Amino acid sequence: MRVLILGPQGSGKGTQAKRIAATHGVPHVSTGDILRDAVSQGSELGLRVAPILERGDLVPDDLMVELIRERLASEDRFVLDGFPRTSAQAEALDAMLDEIGKPLDTVILLEVSDEEAMRRLVGRAAAEGRRDDTDEAIANRLRLYHELTRPVVDRYRAAGELVEVDGEHTMDDVYAAIEAALVASGPVQ
Ligand code: AP5
Ligand code: MG
Repeated sequence: MRVLILGPQGSGKGTQAKRIAATHGVPHVSTGDILRDAVSQGSELGLRVAPILERGDLVPDDLMVELIRERLASEDRFVLDGFPRTSAQAEALDAMLDEIGKPLDTVILLEVSDEEAMRRLVGRAAAEGRRDDTDEAIANRLRLYHELTRPVVDRYRAAGELVEVDGEHTMDDVYAAIEAALVASGPVQ
């Protein structure tokens, strides 16, 4: 199983990706988690990206592509969350999966409105204290999503690969829709 999960900030990518990973025993590859781990470890990568994350800006494409290339080379199955976020990243992902012979079998888009996304992230800020869950950084992340990540969504839609799931239901109902999409796209393994 190789799944890509797309959607705006707060749509539930992380929530649902963790559940897919737990149910099917596949690794959850989240670029946001990888970057936040690097920040908390104070590594060279972490020091470089900390101010970018805090502002809600995007980390440069070349750095992200290298990071994902190394990670996916060592995984046969994965749930990918947070990448690709720009057209350049999407092209690089296509090329690298092609090269290593590991095509995606399901691409899921979780749809939620900006209002719902904002509400959820403000709630998460209170619960988890993520440093980029400030009003300014959330607004910046949503703006970048519409400007740079929407074209990535359109690309998968145009290729007929996109399964669109309404993310504005309960977590269990959203997961049920995802599970149905996974089954429809082939044997779940
Ligand atoms: P990343 O960590 O990917 O953050 P994000 O895209 O902003 O998405 P979120 O994690 O905020 O939302 P989510 O969809 O995972 O929602 P969640 O499940 O948590 O990226 C962080 C930063 O890293 C970026 O801003 C950028 O700087 C950098 N970065 C990462 N990847 C990059 C890349 N490829 N290129 C460049 N830079 C990159 O849910 C949100 C909340 O809602 C939670 O509290 C949850 O409990 C709740 N919730 C979830 N589902 C439901 C539901 N159905 N009903 C009610 N509440 C729900
Ligand atoms: Mg997330």
